[in-house]
Formats: sequence, structure tokens, C-alpha cells
Amino acid sequence: MSSRHRLALIAGDGIGPEVMREGQRLLEWAQARRGIPLELWSLDLGAERYLRDGTTLPAELKAEIRGTCSAVLLGALGDPRVPDHRHAREILFGLRYGFDLFAQVRPSRALLDRVVPLTGRGKKDIDFLVFREGSEGAYSGIGGQLRRDTPFEIAIEEDVNTRHGVERILRVAFARARAEGRPLCVADKSNALRHAHDLWQRVFAEVRSEYSDVRAEHQYIDALCHELIREPARFSLIVTTNLFGDIVSDLCAALAGGLGLAPSACLHPGGGVPGLFEPVHGSAPALAGRGQANPIAMLRTVGLLLESLGYSAEQQAIEAACAEALESFECTPDVGGTLNTHAAASAVLQRLQSGN
Ligand code: NAD
Ligand code: IPM
Ligand code: MN
Repeated sequence: MSSRHRLALIAGDGIGPEVMREGQRLLEWAQARRGIPLELWSLDLGAERYLRDGTTLPAELKAEIRGTCSAVLLGALGDPRVPDHRHAREILFGLRYGFDLFAQVRPSRALLDRVVPLTGRGKKDIDFLVFREGSEGAYSGIGGQLRRDTPFEIAIEEDVNTRHGVERILRVAFARARAEGRPLCVADKSNALRHAHDLWQRVFAEVRSEYSDVRAEHQYIDALCHELIREPARFSLIVTTNLFGDIVSDLCAALAGGLGLAPSACLHPGGGVPGLFEPVHGSAPALAGRGQANPIAMLRTVGLLLESLGYSAEQQAIEAACAEALESFECTPDVGGTLNTHAAASAVLQRLQSGN
């Protein structure tokens, strides 16, 4: 049996290809300098392909990824020429839901004081780990439109929450909180969404009773957003629904220096399926083609990917090299530098190559 890890690379749209190029250089470093056996498999998927021949994510390709890959690395999807986002949804959701990647793990740890936008706060205050439920909730696709484009139009999007779905995300979150000694906060909107989020409350109480050593609290999601700004250091691991997790992970990313720095991993722990690794950011159309995208979110995402394959030392080295490049202002304008995407990635790679 070969121990080589095959990785599917989907550069995607907008700044996706620009940051993917740098992510690929980092994977090549891991391969050449650290001896990690990788096979990189670039897939021509995204808006260009969709506009050319209508392809989004063919079923056979999805099956091949599932059967042969250890992970998928994705740049970003979203193109103004596809206003209904069809290709982005079919590719992104095809992978997330197709592989049942229910745990979307989004770390937002500030690498240095300078990038924290709150007055008087620094890196010691900002270290979040968002566990976003990634398989159901408001993203389940159940709903519809009736009497479209009439004054009597009805639009319905159901918020689907299952005991199985809620329990498994709470369990992986509690297990991680215990393993890392982090306090846990579960966030929902059970005061208003009485049916769906009452389930979160009940399952939270059950799972929590098995983890009495983990400091756990509940916040309504609106209050959590307020408290995250006022008292960020109080929070560490946050577990929440698909939609709230999407929103709160952007907020946490902002507190840790912005979307240009925020990595993410969509996983099915123990499921034997490839994980999907992607920066939290999107295709940033206004930055595309200008060399202005910060590559660090992608580089840290590659770090999470390598960690998932068992290469934690490499992930830590990447984090340290990113922090050093930022300290030296060898970075893109969004985080105070003047470098372009490629040069900012080189600043990180040089530090890794010199044995960091
Ligand atoms: P976005 O994340 O693309 O951009 C939000 C803001 O962050 C913009 O100001 C942008 O310039 C900035 N930004 C993002 N990435 C950056 C980087 N690497 N360096 C510096 N600045 C960066 O979100 P949006 O504008 O709401 O969405 C644009 C498109 O991306 C939409 O089509 C959206 O659906 C899609 N999207 C895709 C994904 C994904 O593929 N995983 C995630 C989010 C949004
Ligand atoms: C994210 C994105 C996606 C989401 C969009 C592009 C569908 O915002 O990964 O955070 O909402 O999951
Ligand atoms: Mn998002």
C-alpha cells in the first residue's frame, strides 16, 4: 500500500488561483524539504469551466476524489458572471455534503498584537476555535419559492436540525475542548427559534453532563457577537449552527486580523473521507488579478491540511513563519505591508526554507 497522499487542488475563482499558487509552493516545500509524500492533482473546476461547458462537479469526479484523495484544497468560488452562484454551490456543497463534512473547524488565533483591531487588545486576547456545524441547519436546501416575481411571492428556507447532527458536532467540540483545556461556548437562538434550537439546548445539557471537567456556557448568538467585541479573551471554543457559524467565523477572523489570515477545515472526524481545506475568505472579486490578496489564509490552511495528515510539526512551523513575516512587515497591504501576494508568500517560505 502506498503511503503517498493524493491531494485534489481546486483553485476556483477570483483570488482563488492567486492564493492556490502559493499554497501549492508550500505543499512542494513540504514534499521536497520535509519528505512528505504528496501527489498534487489540479482540477479544472470553477466559473471559467462552468461558463465554458456547464461542468460544476461531475459525480464520477466526486467519487474519484472520495476514493483516491486524502484531502481537497480549495481556493475560493464565486464569480460575478454567475450571479446565481450555481457552480459555487454545486462544487462547495457537493464536497461538504457529499462527504458529510459536518465539522467545519475555523481557528482564529491572532499571530501578533498589531493585527488585532480592538483598542487595548492584543494577541493574548484572541484565540478562537469555531466549530461550525457543517451538514444541516439553514443550509439543508429544503424550501422553495411560490408565485415568484409576484407581489404574493413566498420564499421558504427551512432550518433543519437533527438530534444526530447536533449531537455529533457538540461531541467533537467537547472532545477538542477537553483535549486542549479550552472553555466551550455553545451559541444558538433558542429564545426565538423555539423548536429547532430548543433541540440544541437539550442535547447540549446531555453532552455537557459527560464532560463535567470542561468549562461550558451558553450564549444566544446575538449576545455572543456583542461579547466577542467587548470581552474577547473570555471566549475560546465556540460551537454553533451552520449559518451562525458562517457569520461568527468572519467576526472572529476580523478580530484576529482579517479574512486574509483565516484558515478553515471541513472534516468528518473518523469518517475515512477526504477533508476539504479552504481559507475562510471568498473570491474577493475586487482584489482579483492585482496581486493584492493576502496568501497567509491559504498558507495556514495548508498547515491545517498537513496537520490532518499527521504532520503537526510542519503546521506549527508554518504558523511561526507566518507570524515572523508579519512581524517584519513582509506582508500584503491588508495587514500593514506593501508586498504583493507572491512576495508575501515568499517571505513565509524563505523562513521555512532556512530551517525555521
Ligand atoms: P470575500 O471573503 O471574498 O471578501 C470580503 C472582504 O475581505 C473583501 O473586502 C475582500 O477584499 C477581503 N478579503 C478576502 N480575502 C482576502 C485576502 N486573501 N486578502 C486580503 N483581503 C481579502 O467575501 P465576499 O466579497 O462577500 O464574497 C465574494 C465572493 O466569494 C462571493 O461570490 C461569495 O459567495 C464567495 N465566497 C466564497 C467562499 C468560498 O469559496 N469558500 C467563501 C466566502 C465567500
Ligand atoms: C464560507 C462561505 C460559504 C458558506 C458560501 C460561499 C456558500 O461563506 O465558506 O464561509 O456560507 O458556507
Ligand atoms: Mn462565510
